[in-house]
Amino acid sequence: MVPGFLSLSLSRLGLWASGLVLVLGFFKLIHLLLRKQKLARAMDSFPGPPTHWLFGHTLEIQQTGSLDKVVSWAHQYPCAHPLWFGPFIGFLNIYEPDFAKAVYSRGDPKASDVYDFFLQWIGKGLLVLEGPKWFQHRKLLTPGFHYDVLKPYVSVFAESTRIMLDKWEEKAREDKCFDIFCDVGQMALDTLMKCTFGKGDSGLGHRDSSYYLAVSNLTLLMQQRLESFQYHNDFIYWLTPHGRRFLRACQVAHDHTDQVIRERKAALQDEKEREKIQNRRHLDFLDILLGARDEDGIKLSDMDLRSEVDTFMFEGHDTTTSGISWFLYCMALYPEHQQRCREEALEILGDRDAFQWDDLGKMTYLTMCIKESFRLYPPVPQVYRQLSKPVTFVDGRSLPAGSLISLHIYALHRNSAVWPDPEVFDPLRFSPENVSRRHPFAFMPFSAGPRNCIGQQFAMNEMKVVTALCLLRFEFSLDPSRLPIKIPQLILRSKNGIHLHLKPLGPGSGK
Ligand code: HEM
Repeated sequence: MVPGFLSLSLSRLGLWASGLVLVLGFFKLIHLLLRKQKLARAMDSFPGPPTHWLFGHTLEIQQTGSLDKVVSWAHQYPCAHPLWFGPFIGFLNIYEPDFAKAVYSRGDPKASDVYDFFLQWIGKGLLVLEGPKWFQHRKLLTPGFHYDVLKPYVSVFAESTRIMLDKWEEKAREDKCFDIFCDVGQMALDTLMKCTFGKGDSGLGHRDSSYYLAVSNLTLLMQQRLESFQYHNDFIYWLTPHGRRFLRACQVAHDHTDQVIRERKAALQDEKEREKIQNRRHLDFLDILLGARDEDGIKLSDMDLRSEVDTFMFEGHDTTTSGISWFLYCMALYPEHQQRCREEALEILGDRDAFQWDDLGKMTYLTMCIKESFRLYPPVPQVYRQLSKPVTFVDGRSLPAGSLISLHIYALHRNSAVWPDPEVFDPLRFSPENVSRRHPFAFMPFSAGPRNCIGQQFAMNEMKVVTALCLLRFEFSLDPSRLPIKIPQLILRSKNGIHLHLKPLGPGSGK
């Protein structure tokens, strides 16, 4: 039994605690309302779609078809419009090349209202870092993407693709359509593990597959969190079932990255292995991280190391998975372009059976098709910034420091003022003459400016090798009853997968 005086002080304590929570809650609310007022006032000169006082535009953007909804808003409100994720977070959503240039040619920081949601998962790696530390890490990691490092990856891409294509050969025998997205994802993770993390054996282990599934979950949950204002507060989110699912998936992802780091550290203990690595002319990404020292000779902390590995592990496979899958969908949709890419690949290959580094520069038609599929299906459909100083756009309207910007890459790439007949798949938009006539910020699948994608060249090489090999082995066609439904989940996915019909082609078949 609780003595009387103790129960009295417990109830007093409870009262004080509730009072404190109420006062803190009150101050937080005032802070949020003031911020909302400031953000809204800054966007006064930008008309936009009607906003719900509580949900903002989230009711519309949570729905299937939200990407095309934004394209229709973009028609109505040229250049930019306010976009509210709930009552307190309001972005200026931009989709016009000069507007994009005004912000993305400078190095403004990422919008913490969005990117902080990543912290529990990928920590402060290159994607989220800011300031001098970002600069230091970017400088450190750039040599990991030097073209001498990338050259030998051509055969790694081919080997991982072969494993996937053999699997598809089995599936194609059943003469049914199947979803290619997951297999492409496993292949992209396999190549990344081999190229940047030096994984030796072929094929994914059980741990890698769990990691792959965890990432699918994490991107889904992150997008849901962004679009549900009630989940924006950390404290509330971690108490919800979604928040707990997110933490469990983070654990799976971290177990995977920890294992990768542990294995490489153990290998470095081995004299022979260390010699082998030191004798390599170019170090891979993990070598660079483990060998990094600052001016005072201090190594990267374990936390920094893990954040970079987590960042690259995610950014390096999920984006290319989306790119390759939507490209194959485009090829199925447009058989004439598919056949032209195949003929080009056959011609380049001649009587050889493997692509080499020099071949990649010759894949001109395939490259134009890849870019056209990036235009219509950008693997990263939206990126966010917070202005560190005021900006004035070409039309004279301006925004003060602190304003939030969302670059809607998907809507930019379908902006009819820049792209005539934007829905038409026309690879010739990317012929050198047409590119030279276009605004340099009209096409931004890898973003642009100082915070552009560090893995751009790696990704383009992988896209070329993998897709050329796919087209040489199979003819791709659609399942009209199961067309993909685009949804943004940090990357562009399909709600119902990407179901294609694959017809094996004989060896050396140009059809
Ligand atoms: C088709 C494939 C890819 C696409 C479309 C893509 C797109 C992008 C975009 C749009 C950004 C800017 C993100 C933002 O501002 O929030 C970005 C950043 C980044 N990407 Fe990629 N990416 C791809 C592949 C890769 C690969 C293969 C890697 C690594 C191996 C990679 C690593 C990164 C990193 C680390 C950043 C952050 C860079 C920084 O802020 O300094 N990406 N990517």
